[in-house]
This record gives sequence, structure tokens and C-alpha cells, in this order.
Amino acid sequence: MTGSRPLAARLRSRRVVVALALGSCVALLGASLRAASQGAQEGGAAKPPLPRDTLTEADVAGLPLLGLGDTVPGVESTPLALARAALGRRLFFDPILSLDKTVSCASCHDPQKGFATNDVRPLGVGGQLCDRNSPPLFNRAFGTTHVWDGRAATLEAQVVMPIEHPHEMALPLADAVARLAADAEYRALFAAAGAPEPDVASLSAALAEFLRRLVVGDSPIDRFRAAKGKLTPQERRGLWIFDSKGRCWKCHSGPNFSDEKFHNTGVGAKEGVPEAGRFAVTGDPTDRGAFKTPTLRMVAKTAPYMHDGSLATLEEVVRFYARGGNRNEQLDPRMEPFEISDDDVAALVALLEALSRRGDEAPAGAAEADDAESEPPSAAPPATAPAPAAKPTKNGRRRAY
Ligand code: HEC
Ligand code: HEC
Repeated sequence: MTGSRPLAARLRSRRVVVALALGSCVALLGASLRAASQGAQEGGAAKPPLPRDTLTEADVAGLPLLGLGDTVPGVESTPLALARAALGRRLFFDPILSLDKTVSCASCHDPQKGFATNDVRPLGVGGQLCDRNSPPLFNRAFGTTHVWDGRAATLEAQVVMPIEHPHEMALPLADAVARLAADAEYRALFAAAGAPEPDVASLSAALAEFLRRLVVGDSPIDRFRAAKGKLTPQERRGLWIFDSKGRCWKCHSGPNFSDEKFHNTGVGAKEGVPEAGRFAVTGDPTDRGAFKTPTLRMVAKTAPYMHDGSLATLEEVVRFYARGGNRNEQLDPRMEPFEISDDDVAALVALLEALSRRGDEAPAGAAEADDAESEPPSAAPPATAPAPAAKPTKNGRRRAY
């Protein structure tokens, strides 16, 4: 917490942080694209980053936050569960789980980047490119399937997949377990977590227990919906478009802004022919090109976007939806084109940026926004929208902006 620092100083430093973060996203994207193509050309010279553990206790508390309901599914506070989570946290940042000990889970799921990366496809061992863009890892406790095509039914099943995946960590699970068993410190940590010897089950239980505690909620949008905070007029307009002509809510619904279903938006389709997507898991031809609806929380930190990282900015994403996605034989019927002005594109982007802040964080340019908020909104949402401060409806959606 920022404690007793004067408000003006806090706002100033936030603006600097936001500016630096935005600047570095762009720089990193360029750098990582270069690194990736170099890695491919030089047969794997590029090395993935190894982020350090800078998480605070609040980051890993696993507590339900505003907008997420009353409980976080599967999170317990027994001493054993806490010991498992501590072990999982240690494993998450440790390159010991990769073949050549150069890649940790955090290499592709960096806490500073919304537990994703800013690479189109992140680098695995030997500078290999992953098959897809890495998704963020918070709020997985609310997920009902995992990875882009949902081939992992549980978090426990998912967390060991990257260890063996040839393009990610490339280490056979038996070797991973043997390494951990040969390490006295890890043996003690596994014993404290209730496993007499490290094995695959206790390894996956620890990683899953840690991931379930990474919870993100209480954004300015959640505060606004609970009548506990304000949005700028632009953000309110963005929320209105999200819930009306943009039809975003039809798929990005629920506490994690995902319906946990699979949809064909046309991403990855070539000349009208979709990728396999969910079809590879279900064998159902109507699932061709369908991918899991991702969360939109913290989305401003995780550019580029979509399962293949094909859209570089949030503005590109919004324009992609406005033109109705990419035509193909299985396009989801919810993907209809809609008219959108440049101001409305900016409003939707502002909304997505607000979803990427903590509720107590001011937006970039906060001083102006605060002033604007004390006035009645000038760029008023459409006249059909009733006055704000309506109570959230049963399913948590607000009808008024
Ligand atoms: C080399 C990069 C890389 C490494 C290392 C890596 N991941 Fe991933 N992770 C990915 C990619 C790419 C995906 C998406 C895979 C897909 O959909 O096919 C993913 C997906 C996931 C998902 C699913 C998220 C969702 O929204 O469904 C979880 C959970 C996950 N990883 C956890 C881990 C854990 C735990 C580790 C360490 C044991 C790890 N990852 C290591 C790149 C990586
Ligand atoms: C038909 C369901 C559907 C609708 C409608 C929809 N989305 Fe999505 N959204 C998805 C799916 C599915 C993906 C992943 C697509 C892929 O990668 O193949 C996605 C991806 C995204 C992403 C990228 C997230 C990331 O981490 O890469 C953003 C941002 C996004 N949508 C915003 C929106 C906005 C804004 C709207 C409204 C204008 C909208 N979506 C409407 C289903 C939908």
C-alpha cells in the first residue's frame, strides 16, 4: 500500500509507471519479435527471461475480491494447503523444471506482465517458439477448462503439461521428479506439504494450489457496478458499448469476463478455413476454429492478443470485432459487424484499460479525469440509458450507466 504519501505524488508516480509500462510494452514487443526471429535463424541462441519472485502476500492470498463472488473455488487455508501453495510458488519461479534449467513457468507467465508475456509466441528451451500466445494465469480457480482449446479439464492436469512439452520446458516428468528428490531442500518442502517423496501428483498439486491463489478483481469496473466507485465518462461510455452494440458481454461474461465457452471469432482462419481449435479436443466439426473466451482482466498488460498473438493492440482488437471478426465457415453468429466511431473505439479501449487497474489506482491523466467527474458527463452515454447508481441485477450486470 502507498500509505501516507501525498495524493499528488502518488498520482504523479502512477502516471510515470503507466507511461513506462506502456513504453516498455512497445519496446519489449519489438525486442522480443527480433529475439524470436533471431532465435529461429540461429538455431536457438535466444534465451528466455527468468523473472524473480516479486509477489506480495496480498498477490497470493487467494481471497475473493470485489466482483468475484464470495469464495475462490478450491482455495483452503489449512496449514497443509498453505505449505503446498508455498512449494508451488517456489517451483513456479525455478528453472529446475526445464531440460537445460533456463526456463521457469514465470519465463512465459511473468507477474509483471499480467502473468503472460509481451511476445507473440514466447520462447521455450533452446529458443524454440511456443505453439501459441501465453495466457495470463490469475483467476484460473474460476476456470472450468484450461489452455486455449480447453484440452486440460483440471488445473492439476494442466500444470504438468508445460514441463514435458517439447517447445516449452522439454523435461520428462520422471526426470523432473528425480531432480526434486535429489534436492534436500525440495525434499523437506514436499514433506511439509504432505508428500513423503516428491512425485508427479504432489508436484502438480503444489503448482495448482499456488495458481488458484492468484486472484485479480476489484477493478474500477467492479467498484462502479457495486456503486462503490466512479468511472470517467469515457470509461462509462466504453462499458455501455460493451454491454450493448459491441455484444462483448455475450461471451466475456461472469466474474472473470469469460463465459468459459469456446467460440469461433475467425482468429487464425486462412482464406475462410479455420484452424482446428476446440475440434482437436472434441472431434465435433462445429467446434472448428473455436477457442476459449479469455478473461479481460489486466488485459492492457498482456499485448499482443488472441491465441496466436495476431493482434498487436487493444485498438486493433476492437476494430477486429467491429468488422465482425474473420469470415469463415464456422464463424460464431454473435460475431456481427457493427458501426463504430473513433471516439467509441477509444472508449472501449479505455474500458479495457480500467479493467486492468486495481480499484484504488487512478487512470493515466487522473487529475483531469477527477475534475471531469465532478461535472455532469459531457460526452453523455445515449439518452436511452437511465441515471446511474442502479443496483446490480441478480446476475451482477448493471443496466444503467
Ligand atoms: C515456454 C513458455 C511457457 C512456459 C515455460 C510455461 N507456459 Fe504455461 N502456457 C504457455 C502457452 C503458450 C500456453 C497456451 C497453450 C495452448 O493453449 O496451447 C500456456 C497455458 C498455460 C495455462 C492455461 C491458462 C488458461 O487460461 O487456460 C496454465 C494454467 C499454465 N500455462 C501454467 C503454466 C505452469 C504452471 C508452468 C510451469 C510448470 C508453465 N505454464 C510454463 C507457455 C508457457
Ligand atoms: C462470440 C464471442 C465473443 C464476443 C462477442 C467477443 N469476444 Fe472477445 N474473445 C472471444 C474469444 C473466443 C477470444 C479468443 C479468440 C482466439 O484467440 O481465437 C476473445 C479474445 C478477446 C481479447 C483478447 C484477449 C487476450 O488475452 O488475448 C480481447 C481484448 C477481447 N476478446 C475483447 C472483446 C471485446 C472488446 C468485445 C466486444 C467488442 C469482444 N471481445 C467480443 C470471444 C468473444
